Amino acid sequence: MRRRARELGGGFNFSTPRLLDESHIEAMSRHRHKQIYLLGFMGSGKSTVGELLSRELQWPFIDLDAVIEAGQGMSILEVFERSGEPFFRQLERAALTEVVKTEPAVIALGGGTFAYEANQELIRETGGATIWLDCPAETLLQRCSTMQNRPLFRDPESFLRLLETRLPYYHLAEFRVATEGRAPQEVAEQILRLRVF
Ligand code: S3P
Repeated sequence: MRRRARELGGGFNFSTPRLLDESHIEAMSRHRHKQIYLLGFMGSGKSTVGELLSRELQWPFIDLDAVIEAGQGMSILEVFERSGEPFFRQLERAALTEVVKTEPAVIALGGGTFAYEANQELIRETGGATIWLDCPAETLLQRCSTMQNRPLFRDPESFLRLLETRLPYYHLAEFRVATEGRAPQEVAEQILRLRVF
């Protein structure tokens, strides 16, 4: 299992988003974005990094899952248990349709949001920056296996299989930050160094 997790952590041949590190900062576009969309698998730190970014930029922070929970008056886990994933995806699309209207904003997507083309289109139409928090499978697994609030975490095998199906979509993000070995504050700083906001 560990080996499989490590294998998932690298060696992909997708067209890769620009990796945010020092050597790439200067090459960044000077286009000013008024929205930041954080994407990545569950446990990658989207909400934590999003909060930090919003504080630094003094932009509102919107957590898409929290919007859905507030709208339903129940947790995402309960939505899944009561109504199933297809219904959750409808709620997710509806919430995203509203959320994209806010600017400026830092928006943390759910782990599956960017895996749907219609959602990608909604996001792209806003011209916001899409940033993938790329975290190794092993770390994600470690973090999520102790959490009780993730309906799609059943067992390590299916978790890693799901991650595998998601990676091609995450690779469609405009930017990628490798989060391994970086505290959330460092990840946020790395993003802010883009100076395109
Ligand atoms: C999901 C991830 C969750 C939440 C829902 C579905 C997914 O968000 O939207 O449980 O499909 O990967 P987080 O990535 O914030 O855990």
